[in-house]
Amino acid sequence: MSQYWSSLVHNLTPYVPGEQPKLQNLVKLNTNENPYGPSPAVIAALQAEAADSLRLYPDPDSSRLKAAIAEYHGLQSNQVFVGNGSDEVLAHVFQALLKHDLPLLYPDITYSFYPVYCGLYGIAFETVPLNAQFEIAIDDYLRPNGGIIFPNPNAPTGMPLALSEIERLLKANTQSVVVIDEAYVDFGTESAVALVNQYPNLLVTHTYSKSRSLAGLRVGYAVGDAALIEALIRVKDSFNSYPIDRFAEAGAIAALQDEAYFQQTRQQVIASRDQLVLDLQNLGFEVLPSGANFIFARHPNYAGEQLAASLRAQAVIVRHFKKPARIADFLRITIGNPAQNQALMQALRTFLSA
Ligand SMILES: Cc1ncc(COP(=O)(O)O)c(C=O)c1O
Repeated sequence: MSQYWSSLVHNLTPYVPGEQPKLQNLVKLNTNENPYGPSPAVIAALQAEAADSLRLYPDPDSSRLKAAIAEYHGLQSNQVFVGNGSDEVLAHVFQALLKHDLPLLYPDITYSFYPVYCGLYGIAFETVPLNAQFEIAIDDYLRPNGGIIFPNPNAPTGMPLALSEIERLLKANTQSVVVIDEAYVDFGTESAVALVNQYPNLLVTHTYSKSRSLAGLRVGYAVGDAALIEALIRVKDSFNSYPIDRFAEAGAIAALQDEAYFQQTRQQVIASRDQLVLDLQNLGFEVLPSGANFIFARHPNYAGEQLAASLRAQAVIVRHFKKPARIADFLRITIGNPAQNQALMQALRTFLSA
């Protein structure tokens, strides 16, 4: 606290990211990073970029990257917005498209950055409870609102929602923007990008941090109607002209162009997830259906906090949310490589047999 702070800062409750431990040799399954490195083509592109041109500002419009993303999804460049990670893209989305008189709607159990953006920008919101099966129930969103946002698959549950349900929402909700945060979509969830040309109020966000294994590079994007994208560009150009640096643009383009590597690594993660689900179920865990690179699981006999603490004592870190109470016994476990997943299973067996 300081007398020099603005009243806004006094009242902010910032987002707390998952721990990035300084200790070596931890099995790190807490922030949904990809266990495999980025495509070798990305490393080559970054090395090529480390040249004299670094003294020059990057392209403020990131035109090459936007063109590559547009081509990848069969869209036009003016339907693409890029930013410094999808967190930054989402921040601009909240400010540009979701701040209205009516409340923004999002699930009660979801990405915990959403309430933070609402606090930062003074956005009125209402949370909509997930149903008893932890699903997003579209009927509960069919009421007056200033916008709707949720991840698909949802986080931290990992549960996918069928595209037909999203289309049902879009057909009924035409007066406000619907944002589908597809950070984890490449791990087995249907994408709403296919609907972008039909619904002018649909915006879909993606990240390079998960399926492209580039969390350290910070690249995310949104696709939607050109008018929605123009709103985001207005905010971005009032905030930071150069969110995508030269490395980020070169690396992201190279990642997009290596389709074979992308398919191979994402299939490996999906196969490991399916194995891990079976292994955990064999130990008595209840695991929610996952379309993501993480799973949400609880054990009927042990508190989530106790399980997380035991894993940590055995050098395995997973994410545990104390609130809301409904999910306090769940662990959110990132899918690692086979050796990491085995270390997790071994640590759980040790705990359960103690
Ligand atoms: C649901 C969801 N959306 C967006 C993000 C932001 O990802 P990034 O800023 O790395 O693109 C995350 C990160 O974990 C997430 O879980």
